[in-house]
Amino acid sequence: MTPVSISDREFRLAVEAAILAPSLHNSQPWRFRLDGDEVHVLADPGRTPPVADPDGWAVRIACGAATYNLALAFAVNGTPLSVHWRPDPAQPTLMAALRPEPARPPTPAQERLFRAIPYRRSNRRPFRPEPVPSAARIAMIQAAASAGAWLDLVVGPVPLAAVSEIAHAANRVLLRNTAYASELAAWTRRDGRAIDGVPAGAGGLSVGPQDLLPQRPFGELVRAATDPREEPLVGVLGTTGNTHRDQLQAGYALQHVLLTITDHGLASSMLSQPIEVGAAREQLRIALGRPGTPQMVLRIGYGDPAPATPRRPVAEVIDEARERSLRP
Ligand SMILES: Cc1cc2nc3c(=O)[nH]c(=O)nc-3n(C[C@H](O)[C@H](O)[C@H](O)COP(=O)(O)O)c2cc1C
Repeated sequence: MTPVSISDREFRLAVEAAILAPSLHNSQPWRFRLDGDEVHVLADPGRTPPVADPDGWAVRIACGAATYNLALAFAVNGTPLSVHWRPDPAQPTLMAALRPEPARPPTPAQERLFRAIPYRRSNRRPFRPEPVPSAARIAMIQAAASAGAWLDLVVGPVPLAAVSEIAHAANRVLLRNTAYASELAAWTRRDGRAIDGVPAGAGGLSVGPQDLLPQRPFGELVRAATDPREEPLVGVLGTTGNTHRDQLQAGYALQHVLLTITDHGLASSMLSQPIEVGAAREQLRIALGRPGTPQMVLRIGYGDPAPATPRRPVAEVIDEARERSLRP
C-alpha cells in the first residue's frame, strides 16, 4: 500500500492537537510546516524563557510533546506518519520530520489517548489521598518505555524524602536568582486575554514546609500552615542519553505518559526545578540509582479539574513561508 498524501485540512487539524502540548511557562516554542508530503516540527527558540532555559532543553521537551500529539492526530485519522528526529543538520531548528506511512486504521488505545488531549492539563492543586491503582502505574511505565524513555515511580519514605529534598533545594537555588524570579513573574498572566503564559488561576498554592514537592505557585494562593501534607505519586521520566535527540524523545514520551495518566482519570503536574539545576539533576540520577538522565519530575494523583491555559491561534504557529497553496 502506498502512503496517502496530506491535505491542508488534515494538517491544520493535527496542528490544533499539537499545540495543546505542555511547554515551560506555556511559552509554546514551536512552529509547524507542511512541506510537500512531510510535516515539519520546528523550534521557535526566541519564545523560550532565556533565564530558565538557556540551553533549549525545555524547547526540545515541548517540541517532542507536540510531535507526539501531531503523530497521534494523523494516526487516529487513519493516515499514520513516522517520526524522524532532527533529520537535517543544516537546519538546526528542524526538530522532527514526519513522513507518511501506508494508511491503517487507528487502534482503540490511540483513539482513547487522542480523546484525552484536551483534558490533559497541569493540575497544581492538592490531590486527594486515594492511591493511584497498579493498573494505571503499569500503563504509565509502559507508555514511557514504548516511546523510548523510562519512568521510575518513587515509592517508600527514604527515596521520596531524597527526591523531595533535592526538589526543594533546586527551587530555593532558582528563586534566589532575581532574574529567574522576575522571568517567572513575567510569564504569570493576570489578563484573561493572554494567549500564552500561565494564568494566575492555574497556579498551585505557595510552597509550604509540609509540601512533598515545590509546586510553582504562578499566583498568590497561600497555603495555610495547617493544610495537610499531600502524598501524590511521584514519578521521574528519563532517557538513557542526553543528546538533543534524547530530549526530543523525552518530550514525546512525556506526552504519551501524561495522556495515559489522563486516560486513567488521573491528574498530573510537572516539576522541572530539579532538572534545570545541573547539580540537582545529578543528585536525582544518583538517588534513583539508575544510569541515564532524568528529564522531568511528575506529580500524579486524583484531583478536581484544573483550568485550561490559553494557546496562540493555529495561524500563528504555521510556517506560512513554505506552506503550499490550499488544497481540500
Ligand atoms: C519543559 C517543561 C517544564 C515545565 N516545568 C514546570 C514546573 O516546573 N512547574 C509547573 O508547575 N509546570 C511546569 N511545566 C508545565 C507548564 O507550566 C504547562 O505545560 C503550561 O503552563 C501549559 O499548561 P498545561 O500543561 O495545563 O497545558 C513544564 C512544562 C514543560 C514542557
